[in-house]
Amino acid sequence: MDRNLALELVRITEAAALACARYMGRGDEKAADKAAVDAMRKAFDSLRIDGTVVIGEGERDEAPMLFIGEKVGQRTADSPAIDIALDPLEGTTICATGGVGSISVIAVAERGNFLHAPDTYMDKIACGPESKGKIDIDQSPTENIRRVAKALEKEVQDVTVVILDRPRHTDLIAEVRRTGARIQLIGDGDVSASIATAWPESGIDLLIGVGGAPEGVISAAALQCLGGDFQGRLKFRNEEEKARAKKMGIENLDKKYTIDELAKGSVMFCATGVTDGPLLKGVKTLPGRHAKTHSIVMRSISGTTRTIEAHHDLNKKPGMM
Ligand code: FBP
Repeated sequence: MDRNLALELVRITEAAALACARYMGRGDEKAADKAAVDAMRKAFDSLRIDGTVVIGEGERDEAPMLFIGEKVGQRTADSPAIDIALDPLEGTTICATGGVGSISVIAVAERGNFLHAPDTYMDKIACGPESKGKIDIDQSPTENIRRVAKALEKEVQDVTVVILDRPRHTDLIAEVRRTGARIQLIGDGDVSASIATAWPESGIDLLIGVGGAPEGVISAAALQCLGGDFQGRLKFRNEEEKARAKKMGIENLDKKYTIDELAKGSVMFCATGVTDGPLLKGVKTLPGRHAKTHSIVMRSISGTTRTIEAHHDLNKKPGMM
């Protein structure tokens, strides 16, 4: 993949973030998501790739755009065959309530390098580079926290674990509290939170708990670029979800996925902040139909992370916002 593709991707997440940020705090999740999806779908048209959405807005019958299997980009004879994992608005509720940490996100890899994860849940554990190879989803949270504390040369009491605030995590939260570790409970947005484990300034050391499986693949792609670690195991709510996973080619429903089994090879990752969060500042509107966006662009091959602050003159971008 041409390394410049990573910089092209940022236009796409910027377009989606600019579009949905207008819906911040307006209490309309659907409208916010639709604005992001429409803008991202349109922005893909300018990209010279033979792209296939493998992690997207849902199955073809339930998502009108950016559905799993949809072809995107300008396909020419020499355009690279690329798989795309995307979430035009990760954290729809966050955006709709003006909360912390919603982002627009795309990860790409050469064809066949992302797990085609069904839209079910995933048990996840994520950490930064220092703890890579030390975490194990089959071990207890207590043991994982102990290992991460050791790797980071911290006291357990100084380790910060991020957990989605859900009733399903009552026992997990109680166990982590017993270890003495610090907890950051989040309402939504475990992609941002997973990435934050590898982002030193975030103060977050470990993510544990169950969230969306598609978000797990996107998080793994980002952590590949940052040198972090991630493991996941699919969690099914019913037989229908299991059947769907089998249809998507997943044979062992209880498999523990390593980071390399979720996202491998040359991976590029790009995210733009929608609302302010631990990684990225949200979209800021400026006087005279101007706006500022804050994005990260990363490549696994080079390990380079770029943060891009862009100033947009929306008067020159008709149709945008
Ligand atoms: P959406 O952007 O699709 O709303 O997802 C937000 C999110 O919080 C994800 O970050 C997380 O993986 C998932 O939802 C958790 O699912 P649930 O809200 O069902 O617990």
